[in-house]
Amino acid sequence: MNCSRDVLSQLGALTAMLAALIFATLLYKRKCPMSLSFSSDSLSKLDRMAERYPSKQPLVMPALHMAQKEFGHLSDEALQLVAATLGLPYPHVYGVATFYTMYKREPSGKTTLRVCTNVSCMLRGAYDVLDSLTSKLGVEVGGSTEDFHVVEEECIAKCANAPAILAGTKYFLDLEPKDVDDMLTYLRSNPHPESEVA
Ligand code: FES
Repeated sequence: MNCSRDVLSQLGALTAMLAALIFATLLYKRKCPMSLSFSSDSLSKLDRMAERYPSKQPLVMPALHMAQKEFGHLSDEALQLVAATLGLPYPHVYGVATFYTMYKREPSGKTTLRVCTNVSCMLRGAYDVLDSLTSKLGVEVGGSTEDFHVVEEECIAKCANAPAILAGTKYFLDLEPKDVDDMLTYLRSNPHPESEVA
């Protein structure tokens, strides 16, 4: 008699746990509908890269770049897509996406201008260049226009030609405040978005 009561109470607990799990899953799906999907080009690039590694972890960064290139920024949904595509936990993908400055979690201008203000650049007038840039664009550091996103960056490996700005894969070197107009004009007709993955 006691034995059957124990079995019944265990069954009851199991059913309650199952119901809670189903409810949590439905709630999660409702909050996070997966309407984004990778292009076939990105998926085949990821497949090719996967052949080089014994696990999926090394693919997180290129997959984030591909998502950023395709969707403009890394929304929660884009991170879920990366996690689901690679079969990795969402917190792992979230951790990588929020650690590196090249990943954008919010929508922003097409070309990110990474203005180095580290020692060599600072000593050669980087803050004057940065001031000229932000005042011409009418934004604060970290802000965006439709075309540009302005970021203050640590050394971008062009100390011999300081001060320097990196836009996508293109460097602007030995800058002075008077060069900012020409740089912006060039980049307006030749945007250099980041996150190009070969
Ligand atoms: S300090 Fe600016 S590029 Fe190195």
